[in-house]
Amino acid sequence: MPDSQQVASNSSSSRSATATKPALWSSRFVFIMAAVGSAVGLGNIWKFPYITGENGGGAFVLVYLACIAVIGLPLMMSEVMVGRRGGKSPIGTMAVVAKAEGRSKRWVGVGIMATLAAFLILSFYSVIAGWTMPYIISAISGSFSDINAEDSGALFGGLLASPWQLLLWHSIFMGLTVLVSAGGVRHGLERAVTKLMPALFILLLILVGYAATTGHFGEAVSFLFKPDFSALTAEAILTALGHAFFTLSLASGAMMAYGAYLPKNVSIARTAVVVAVMDTCVALLAGLAIFPIVFAHGLAASEGPGLIFVTLPVAFGQMPGGGFFATLFFVLLLFAAWTSSISMLESLVSYLNEKGVSRVKAAIGGGFAAWLVGITTLLSLNVWSDFTPMDSFARFEGKTLFDLYDYLTANIMMPLVAFLIAVFVGWKMKPEHSKAELGAWHKLWFPVVRYLTPIALLIVFAFNLR
Ligand code: TRP
Repeated sequence: MPDSQQVASNSSSSRSATATKPALWSSRFVFIMAAVGSAVGLGNIWKFPYITGENGGGAFVLVYLACIAVIGLPLMMSEVMVGRRGGKSPIGTMAVVAKAEGRSKRWVGVGIMATLAAFLILSFYSVIAGWTMPYIISAISGSFSDINAEDSGALFGGLLASPWQLLLWHSIFMGLTVLVSAGGVRHGLERAVTKLMPALFILLLILVGYAATTGHFGEAVSFLFKPDFSALTAEAILTALGHAFFTLSLASGAMMAYGAYLPKNVSIARTAVVVAVMDTCVALLAGLAIFPIVFAHGLAASEGPGLIFVTLPVAFGQMPGGGFFATLFFVLLLFAAWTSSISMLESLVSYLNEKGVSRVKAAIGGGFAAWLVGITTLLSLNVWSDFTPMDSFARFEGKTLFDLYDYLTANIMMPLVAFLIAVFVGWKMKPEHSKAELGAWHKLWFPVVRYLTPIALLIVFAFNLR
């Protein structure tokens, strides 16, 4: 699919050019699956619950939902649209589209920053995704049966304390990512994703059902949905916004790169709505599955990154058939992370590919570089946990390298890329052009990306730089 689309990319304005091999009727579905595969990942099941716990629940969730609807969704439409018009890698696309609109060459910088953000995210994403593998092994070997919260915490702590174990799993996960990316295997992946995503959904529902029996379901529902605005800080708003980008794979080229492979006759707006809704449902279900268990066992909602790795084994350990469900859960989490990590590498690989590097070499080279940077992340969990190089800035005080990568991408690079994309489509691109892509939705979308999105992002920046 990528190859045929690259041919089409030079004539992105011609409708027939994209009508190549893949059957047209299934194209929208395939795109949705690839985009949902990219969007649904650790962000939904691992990160959303723990940052919600750290930021006090309801009010944070409300801000997050608003960020998805008001900023995330219009931005996803923008990125897919720009990607489809450019028909290239995010860097190539920004060059092509800026030129077509008679704008400065410097817009390429947006593509570069997006690609860089995706690369940095991949480097630490792989480390975390690696955690799922020892958990799969523990689940199969029955280590979770009747485990209590304390032992579960110790198990997780032991994993984080061991650089060699982390390195092993990080290496395997990065290898898996490179493998798919190098092959450009959309077929195998597509087929896997279309089965795995529904399976993940059903499994989450089962877990929510189990959580409902813990007697603390109501508590979790009010924690998630009853806003207490006194718990809301400016930093929390920024976190919610950063996570809205992260969970939808925005502001990092992924959706632009996938948009380049989208046939002309597919409605961008309707497709984006489906992706955003599915992604949000998975995150909320994860919250509903996890918090009742957290409360039932007297664990702290603000536990942090270890939240699901510590709490879920406790629940599985008490459930009939828990070993089976635990295995399934962590396998699916691994797959969800895998379909996401591939999309992170895609920005860089598609760019290198354009520059004449073969797909295999580009994937191996990009993956290797991200693997190297990832090692600094895994070391900051143990050996380098006291290495907080930016202490002289109050904002970065006490942040390890891992914390810094996370902060830099989620709170600085992604909002900046998002702002620039909104300015580009809202002010620099001819409205006739965006109208041709978005049809009737244009009326609703245009004022949002022209005014609301940039202003909201400016306010957030102003708060952040206070
Ligand atoms: N959306 C994914 C998640 O929630 C993460 C992800 C995939 C991503 N591709 C991305 C994040 C590109 C940033 C950029 O886990």
